[in-house]
Amino acid sequence: MFLYLLSAVFAFAIAGIITFINNYSKLYKLPPGPVGNWLPIFGYLPFMGKSPHLKYCELGKKYGDAFTIKFGAYPIVVLNKSSLIRECFKQDVYCGRPNYLLAMKVSKDGLTFATGPEATEQRRFVLKTLRDLGFGRRSMEKLILDEVQELVHYFKNSNTQTHHLEYLFGLSVINALWSILATRKFSITDPYAIQVYKCAIEGFIDPPVSGALWFLPIVAKLFPKASGYSSVVEAVKKLRSLVSEVVEEHKIEYRKTGIVKDFVDAYIQKIESVQEEGLTNSSFYGERGYNNLVHVLIDLFTAGSDTLNSSLNFALKYLCENRNILVEVQKEIDNVVGNREVRLVNLDDKDSLPLLDSVIQETLRLSSIVSSGILHSTTHPVNLVTDTGSYMLDANTIVMPNLYWVNHNPEQWENPDSFFPHRFIGNDKKHDVIAFSTGKRVCIAEVMAQTEFFLFLGGILANFNIQGGKEQTQFGDIKPGLVLNVHGLILTLTYKHN
Ligand code: HEM
Repeated sequence: MFLYLLSAVFAFAIAGIITFINNYSKLYKLPPGPVGNWLPIFGYLPFMGKSPHLKYCELGKKYGDAFTIKFGAYPIVVLNKSSLIRECFKQDVYCGRPNYLLAMKVSKDGLTFATGPEATEQRRFVLKTLRDLGFGRRSMEKLILDEVQELVHYFKNSNTQTHHLEYLFGLSVINALWSILATRKFSITDPYAIQVYKCAIEGFIDPPVSGALWFLPIVAKLFPKASGYSSVVEAVKKLRSLVSEVVEEHKIEYRKTGIVKDFVDAYIQKIESVQEEGLTNSSFYGERGYNNLVHVLIDLFTAGSDTLNSSLNFALKYLCENRNILVEVQKEIDNVVGNREVRLVNLDDKDSLPLLDSVIQETLRLSSIVSSGILHSTTHPVNLVTDTGSYMLDANTIVMPNLYWVNHNPEQWENPDSFFPHRFIGNDKKHDVIAFSTGKRVCIAEVMAQTEFFLFLGGILANFNIQGGKEQTQFGDIKPGLVLNVHGLILTLTYKHN
């Protein structure tokens, strides 16, 4: 018995040493990184501090084009230079997702966390269908403006002029998405819509999902409640069931009429045609197809709502902190929409509103809300050449773009930490901002996001005087997460046209 026990302990010890050597020999092959990487079990996680986006920048300044950081057992190669990110991400080999990580595993169907040929197939279909349906173009403008109008009414008729904005815009934006994707109309106070949005935030955006949990699967499994893992699983389950209801209703209707009226119908049509042709390998086939449809919708709602919510919050925060620019941009808008019955900005106004457009570009740059993009991973071994040398990355190496740094690099941006929209007027510099990432997995909705941002922000500024509390000079703190947000943003919105 004792001998059995001894040999078991011995075997464990050997396995541990082999894993240790294996893990750490991998680190040696990668670009250099901080000493904290060598800490067993946690790697560099305990040294990240409260603002990971700033920590990546600090490390970036020290290590140059690329560095390696190790979280749990996973080394991550961080790309720190805009030309290098552009060069890598245009290659297929860099466009996988590390969906073996816990948080991605929970929802790896669909699009955002899918990898390999399945991701390519889904992405191609989603892009084409959204384009065919006019996503991001004029035909969508009316649907978005309806939501802007509803938001203006909500603020105007509210009992109070003081609003806690942290999540409020997200509901409007998610409702615009519902009407575009699924011909569903919800009001900003609809409990169903609120539930979907809440689950999206809990399941995908807020820490711990976007933090340590990704890299410490054992901790998550051993302490599911304390680590937040069970609430993530619950939120995703709830979201699945909420979205599945809509898919079921569409399925019944489409089978009755055969009419394609929105994105969900187009997807169901694709599933049925793949079924008829017997393409069993396709990611659209049968139940797998329906499962992917539910997750693609979840991906679009989660990726679409919180990003725009947060962008609008940052824009208002920056404008309140820089009142001279707020006054100037509102004057520009008033000159254009002042005589209209319904004072909303529309896409035809874009050329007449250069400062509003620049406020948007500057907000995207300065906030860099998706500060580290979404993690990529290599699908095959590949050679990475940086300013410190040439490194062979194995297949499945995690790669992270340091977008926050690229948008704040003083070599590229004068006074990078100041809000200065005028830097974009009369030049092409906005193309240097990398807010939506770049290459083969660039944000699927960049055009639509820019359109929504323009219409929503323009609509708010056209209708309300905006003020913080009496002696407020700081309008909320930056809250870390997969998407940075403004925590504690409280503003007074006074209707201008009574
Ligand atoms: C200001 C708003 C937005 C910003 C800054 C933003 C930024 C990003 C970034 C940085 C990525 C990662 C790309 C990569 O992996 O390299 C991404 C991916 C994605 N975004 Fe956006 N996004 C915004 C709005 C939206 C909206 C409105 C939608 C949908 C309606 C959307 C849908 C997606 C999807 C589905 C992906 C995953 C694409 C893939 O995995 O291939 N985003 N976005």
